[in-house]
Amino acid sequence: MKGVVLAGGLGSRLAPLTNITNKHLLPVYNKPMIYYPIQTLVNAGIQDVIIVTGGNSSGDFLRLLKNGKEFGLRRLNYAYQEGEGGIADALSYAEDFCEGESMCVVLGDNIIENNIVEFANSFRKNPEGSRILLKEVPDPERFGVPVFDGDNIIKIEEKPKEPKSKYAVIGIYIFDHTVFDKIGKLSPSQRGELEVTDLNNMYLKDGKLNWSILDGWWTDAGTFDSLQRASSLVAETGANKL
Ligand code: G1P
Repeated sequence: MKGVVLAGGLGSRLAPLTNITNKHLLPVYNKPMIYYPIQTLVNAGIQDVIIVTGGNSSGDFLRLLKNGKEFGLRRLNYAYQEGEGGIADALSYAEDFCEGESMCVVLGDNIIENNIVEFANSFRKNPEGSRILLKEVPDPERFGVPVFDGDNIIKIEEKPKEPKSKYAVIGIYIFDHTVFDKIGKLSPSQRGELEVTDLNNMYLKDGKLNWSILDGWWTDAGTFDSLQRASSLVAETGANKL
């Protein structure tokens, strides 16, 4: 299984912090934000990782992470996303790197307390379709939100005004290689982006979306409040525990 960290976007919700640097290079307690999603992949037993980024500060990722030896990676690649086409567009830049294998995708601003070894292993046992992680949150309207019928997810809604469950779809996904064909069939959403939620809904329609609940805390770090929360959580309890 390959690893993909998505670290593009303008980070406009964090301006002016992001006016001259990429969001994923900002500090979360004592490390640059991007360190956490890379460690999440490493802890899941993934040794080949690609960072998809873009914009003016893209060269800084190479200066910071070099060849990934610090993380024990076998291979660290980089891809440059043109423009801001959204998460699913960013993922399309990882197609050649994935070489027909499945991949675990982590959004560069998603930080977790524990690890996703069990999640990755359950996909490895049945390596088809997609697998997502859910976490109960107080503010689901900020995220992708699953709609349930009993124990089955029937739909995922992106940032719904009236969420139909109290769960967020967190920014850690496993996809099989069919993801790239699916991305080719997506149309831009109202915010002009190719949405990861639409992608997961395609897997759902094929009956090929599985899910697990994440244990331990999870946070994004893309707003002032969540960035501060992320730093506090890391300082208080530590992140990426084995
Ligand atoms: C993205 C996804 C959303 C997901 C979230 C997790 O939202 O679109 O479905 O729940 O990441 O962090 P963003 O905040 O990047 O717009």
